[in-house]
Formats: sequence, structure tokens, C-alpha cells
Amino acid sequence: MNLIELNKIAVAMAAPGKGILAADESSGTIKKRFDSIGVESTEDNRRDYREMLFRTDEAMRESISGVILFDETIRQNAADGTPLVQLIKDAGSIPGIKVDKGAKDLAGAPGEKVTEGLDGLRERLNEYYELGARFAKWRAVIDINGADIPSGYCIATNVHALARYAALCQEANIVPIVEPEVLMDGDHDIDRCYDVTEFTLKSLFDELYAQDVALEGTVLKPNMVISGKKSENRAGVSEVAEKTVRCFRAAVPAALPSIVFLSGGQSDEEATAHLNAMNAEYADKMPWALSFSYGRALQAAPLQAWSGKPENVAAAQAAFAHRAKMNGLATTGEWSDGLEKAA
Ligand code: 13P
Repeated sequence: MNLIELNKIAVAMAAPGKGILAADESSGTIKKRFDSIGVESTEDNRRDYREMLFRTDEAMRESISGVILFDETIRQNAADGTPLVQLIKDAGSIPGIKVDKGAKDLAGAPGEKVTEGLDGLRERLNEYYELGARFAKWRAVIDINGADIPSGYCIATNVHALARYAALCQEANIVPIVEPEVLMDGDHDIDRCYDVTEFTLKSLFDELYAQDVALEGTVLKPNMVISGKKSENRAGVSEVAEKTVRCFRAAVPAALPSIVFLSGGQSDEEATAHLNAMNAEYADKMPWALSFSYGRALQAAPLQAWSGKPENVAAAQAAFAHRAKMNGLATTGEWSDGLEKAA
């Protein structure tokens, strides 16, 4: 493990003004996204869509530090034969790869999941490094929408797997993004999300320590502390910012360089406003850089604008560039509602 190199990458992933594009939808998820715009999920369509994003020069150069890819995409070429990984590198951005095999039913725990993918991971990581990946992602899913969940068993098995994955990544000189996502599905209030997120993060960092993972070469991808989607009184922007920062200060060690949020089903503007408020109001209270690793909150607008039609490429790229720019501004607390509307 070259910790100096890993640390450089982990820092670059949340450089001021920049964050990550999560474009690693599995075959099932990208099909759902394409279904929503009436486009068939063929290999060529997936390539065309992602190539369009990676060729959005302004966004990629100015606001996107890295791109998380799916196994198919890291091996794919653009229409003109250039490897998609090369397009990303040419724009000064870092290629990354989703390496988990998805969340599966957790035995003996109805309604709960554990993420699989450890078998053969060492060999896959070595191959991904050769293909150009310098960071990886593994997502654990913690559902809190139900009686008696999450169980301690669900959290313990998921953080154990996250730490095993992270240790293997570092051995392969790949920065692990550890993603323990507490879902926002349900009608719970923000304090319930706070409690489960704090417990999950503390359990995760205990396990990373136990398995000798170097935090200096690790990136955390968490949920924000936020009300459930169906909560009757959803907390406002300043409460989300205050409680998220308070929770992380209690649970996330200062040795970790970078935190990049998932968007998790927030609206585009919510995801931007929350990140902005944290950086605008609490920058001097946080030892880590706070940025984004959004999937839906970066892609919903361009996906809709594109709708599978070549004549819409420019409009879709403009939509992507706008969201990337707004989120880039949020990493330094410089976003405002006025800038959002002025575009
Ligand atoms: P969302 O931002 O759409 O939640 O996706 C981010 C991600 O990569 C989830 O693993």
C-alpha cells in the first residue's frame, strides 16, 4: 500500500469546487432510469448516455473530480473508439469503480440487507487498477422504515464487509469509498435518522480500525441526517446542516480527509442547498472536506433533457453542466438560490 498516493487521491476527490459523479448504476438500476424516459436499456444506449456526460467538458474539467463507473462502462469505448476511461482522464478527472455486487436479503433478518461481493474481490481490484480505476465504491444499505429495524446484526455484518472491502482496496492501491447508506424511505423524523446514522458511523469506524484500514487513504460516502421522505414535518435546510455536522463531529475521525455525500432521493436543489449550508455555516468546525458524490441529483436533469434523442445532447449537457456547477459552488458555500435561478 502506498499511503501517500492514496491520501493524495482521497484529497483530490473532494478538492474545493469539485465532487464526484456517481455513474455506476447497475444494469437493473440504469434500466429503471431509462424506463422513466422511454429509452431501451441496450449496451449502445448506455454507452451513448454516459459518453455524453463524460464529454461535457465544462462540467468535467471544472466541477467533477472523479467518476464512479460500473463494470460494463470501465471496459467500454466511446463511439469513436476512445476508451470511456480515457475521456474521463483527459478531462482531468479520476476514474473509479463500483465493486460491490449489490444488497441481498440478510439471512434471518426479514426486511434487512447485506451487501455481497467479497469473494474474488482481490483479483477484481487488481484488474480494475490495470483498467485505470484509482478509487472504488461499496454501498451498504440500512433500512430504518419498519418496526424493530435496523438490527445490530444488520449494522455489524454490513460494516464488517465494508472494512474487509476497504482493506483489500488499500492493498491494491485503490482508495475505498465506504458508503453506509441509512435510507430516507419512510415517515421517520430527523432525530431517528440522527441516532441510526451516528450508531452506524461509530460501528463503521470501529471496524475500520479493527481491520487496520488507514483513514488517511479512505473516503466516506454517507447519507445526510435528514427527515424521512414521507415525514409530516420535514426538517428545513439549516436543521439538516446543523444535525449532520453535529453527528459527524461525534462519529467521524479527523484523520479522514474527505466526505462525499450521496443524494439518496433528495430533490436536485435540496441536495445542493443542504451541502451548501454545511460548508457556508460550519467550515471552521469541520476537519474534513465536505463534497458530493451524487447520482440522481446530478443526472435526473440531463437524463430528462436527453430522453434518448441525439438532437437533445446539447441541452442535456447544459443541464448536467448546470447541476455540476451548482454543486461545485456548494462545496465552498458559495451557492445561492439566486445563482440557481439565474442560469
Ligand atoms: P444517489 O446520489 O442517487 O443516491 O446515488 C449515489 C450512489 O452512488 C449510491 O450508491
